Amino acid sequence: MIIAIDGPAASGKGTLARRLAEHFELRHLDTGLTYRAVAAALLAKGLPLGDESVAIEIAQHLELAQMDKSVLSAHEIGEAASRIAVLGGLREELVNLQRKFAETPPGAVLDGRDIGTVVCPNATVKLFVTASPEARARRRTDEMISKGNEANYASVLEDLKRRDERDSQRTVAPLKQADDAVLLDTTEMDIEAAFQAAVDIVSKAA
Ligand code: DC
Repeated sequence: MIIAIDGPAASGKGTLARRLAEHFELRHLDTGLTYRAVAAALLAKGLPLGDESVAIEIAQHLELAQMDKSVLSAHEIGEAASRIAVLGGLREELVNLQRKFAETPPGAVLDGRDIGTVVCPNATVKLFVTASPEARARRRTDEMISKGNEANYASVLEDLKRRDERDSQRTVAPLKQADDAVLLDTTEMDIEAAFQAAVDIVSKAA
């Protein structure tokens, strides 16, 4: 069983993916972390984000189990990840890694931007999780403040819109709902309601 979850930044897809994995006893991969890990390694080496051959080499040695979400969640790393995500050769390398993870029994939940369209086109079930930019910016701002960080709603909203634009407009594997994905709009839902809706969708499809 493979559950593919795509959607824009701060749509809640990560939390849903983690909870669905627990519920259905599957492994979980946040594929955004693979782009973030490569971006963080380039930044740490002081190399330009467009250096695709080094990016590919880093991807070839990536250890999924070693990726530390708490380190990789920094805003600058997310921005850098969105920039290197346009590199076609790098994507090929990361997609191979993600597919291997998905296809290892008993299956997995993967979340990202191109899981239903490119990484796992034959997934058992596909969800496209979205919410209005305003709802996503509000959640992201509250989350940052609850972690003791400073956050400004207006600038978070601007950043999200810019990231959506870059992720949806790129030519290679843009953020896009797969034809056979079920749309889950969580604008008016809290996480519990969104989780219940997702469980219903997956149970019907599986
Ligand atoms: O989901 P996230 O914020 O951790 O993702 C960071 C960036 O990585 C995102 O802006 C675009 C890129 N990404 C991608 O292109 N394809 C994926 N499957 C996951 C993430």
